[in-house]
Amino acid sequence: MRTYGGDLARIEKDGLTRRLQLRRSDMLEFSSNDYLGLADHPRLKEASIKAIEMWGSSVAASRLMSGNIGLHEQLENRLARLTGMESALLFGSGFLANTGLLSSITSRDDLVFADRLNHASLVDGASLSRAGVFRYRHCDMDHLEYFLANRTCSGNRFIVTDSLFSMDGDIAPIRKLEELSLCYDCNLIIDEAHAVGVFGNGGGICREYGVRPHAVIGTLSKALGSYGGFVAGNAELIKYLINNARTFIYSTGLPPAAPAAALKALDIIESQPDSGRKLLEMAADFRGMIEFSGFSTSPSESQIVPVHVGENRKAVAFSEYLERNGVSAVAIRPPTVPAGTARIRLSVTLRHSRKDLSYAAEVLNSGSIQ
Ligand SMILES: Cc1ncc(COP(=O)(O)O)c(C=O)c1O
Repeated sequence: MRTYGGDLARIEKDGLTRRLQLRRSDMLEFSSNDYLGLADHPRLKEASIKAIEMWGSSVAASRLMSGNIGLHEQLENRLARLTGMESALLFGSGFLANTGLLSSITSRDDLVFADRLNHASLVDGASLSRAGVFRYRHCDMDHLEYFLANRTCSGNRFIVTDSLFSMDGDIAPIRKLEELSLCYDCNLIIDEAHAVGVFGNGGGICREYGVRPHAVIGTLSKALGSYGGFVAGNAELIKYLINNARTFIYSTGLPPAAPAAALKALDIIESQPDSGRKLLEMAADFRGMIEFSGFSTSPSESQIVPVHVGENRKAVAFSEYLERNGVSAVAIRPPTVPAGTARIRLSVTLRHSRKDLSYAAEVLNSGSIQ
């Protein structure tokens, strides 16, 4: 019989045990990805309630069976427009979008060149197809180019990266990535999970820089205040995914409340195109407040602000100290981040007031990492 005690003891010994914590309403929340503060917006709630009244709590079938409703297709059209792509397809989550996309468009004859700090779902997607994977040093375009020049295959080649890195808050060199993908005849795949809704008037970092990759992945579950994921690309790619992406074909369509809320979020984002810029300005101020006391938030240039600690137990102790002072910010440890780089990850959202940010910075600055 498989037992788990030995593994759990090893995890505990390394200071890596993860525990579920109930969210508390009396805390200042800094671990949420609800960047625009839309998850409990009255208009999103109202839209979800209406959708449930109309369609029920579940579509109870995959999209290809009887689970396809107008809300899904309306949202796909809007997401395609938002990201500047021809077409889009919803998935059960961003994780399922990444694994479904990469496992279906790559094969064992292909090569994937991936940033070393890519999200786990991009790593898993490529490994499912058994494509060869080369992981280049984080944002190191010389290292990527070395691989591109020296690693060939009989099939297709793909460059895969987050646009905004989830644990560091830095941005991939998106224009250089496009240039390399064109120069070396590669397909560029960009995961915009943390950037959609915030950058490029909501359309993401590719939109902001005028870059048009082969595919963009996004999630409804962060700035859009809902749940689910999507892939955007040309119409042929989307048709291919409908016919080949296993996480799309063999999984139930999103519950009606989710696309309804996301559609309302897009209405709000379109009517307030400055929201993302305002959030980024608040985050820059917040980084300044923290760095003033000698903490490093490098290399963040976004609403995601890491405070580097290093050692696992110290990061947990620091997070507990923050919690005792009313600030909820989770310690991030390996394997989510590389060994020796444990940190507190804070995300600034539009729910925060200037007073909230000053208070959190004061608590951070008066704590010590020991
Ligand atoms: C870069 C990136 N891609 C994909 C995902 C997965 O998205 P979802 O939470 O919708 O599954 C995440 C979530 O944390 C992410 O950070």
